[in-house]
Amino acid sequence: MKHAMIQQMQGTYLLSLGYCLTGLCLGDLAEVMRIEHSASDFPWRAGHFEDSLRNGCAGVCIRHVEGALCGYCIWMPVVDEVHLLNLCVAPSAQKKRLGLALLKHAALRAQAAGGTRMLLEVGVSSRRALHLYRRFGFIEIGIRKNYYVAAEGTREDAYVMRLILSEVQYAAS
Ligand SMILES: CC(C)(COP(=O)(O)OP(=O)(O)OC[C@H]1O[C@@H](n2cnc3c(N)ncnc32)[C@H](O)[C@@H]1OP(=O)(O)O)[C@@H](O)C(=O)NCCC(=O)NCCS
Repeated sequence: MKHAMIQQMQGTYLLSLGYCLTGLCLGDLAEVMRIEHSASDFPWRAGHFEDSLRNGCAGVCIRHVEGALCGYCIWMPVVDEVHLLNLCVAPSAQKKRLGLALLKHAALRAQAAGGTRMLLEVGVSSRRALHLYRRFGFIEIGIRKNYYVAAEGTREDAYVMRLILSEVQYAAS
């Protein structure tokens, strides 16, 4: 009940800013891929999204009320653990706390479904993402060497980060 109320408050707050949250589905894929290629240093292929959505992952989109897709998040529940697989906001919509809104929504949904912790990998050079995750309460618990394929075939290490879901403080915004 507590989670449902916070989600409702979050929905009302986003609407007041002109945005809404909707479920992520295969029909969103063309728009998702445009954002993925324009925003991410390590873009997923369409097949990654298709496989994830067909194999039990959950996802959410954030859209402008007039319809344009602004961002999305996708996560995979594994018993009481949740793996955050992808979080991305269109470059033109960044720095408006939409990434935070998507992250909050994923954390609330994960917790409501019985999740106790959330894990993710993030490239060591992804400064904005690292800032968002640390502020939200994630801590680094390890490093995966050469995890991402970066530009020109080089590879980049990733931090493994963990969030204890019961410790998240959900602000009104
Ligand atoms: C990383 C990314 C998703 C961030 O999206 P964004 O919409 O620009 O981020 P936001 O505007 O929501 O920024 C988060 C803000 O919330 C803050 N924040 C995070 N948790 C918070 C909390 N619990 N309470 C208050 N503020 C919080 C952050 O500090 C930041 O605030 P600041 O800009 O005032 O310092 C976006 O830059 C992106 O898509 N990058 C490319 C893809 C990528 O790197 N994805 C992550 C891969 S793992």
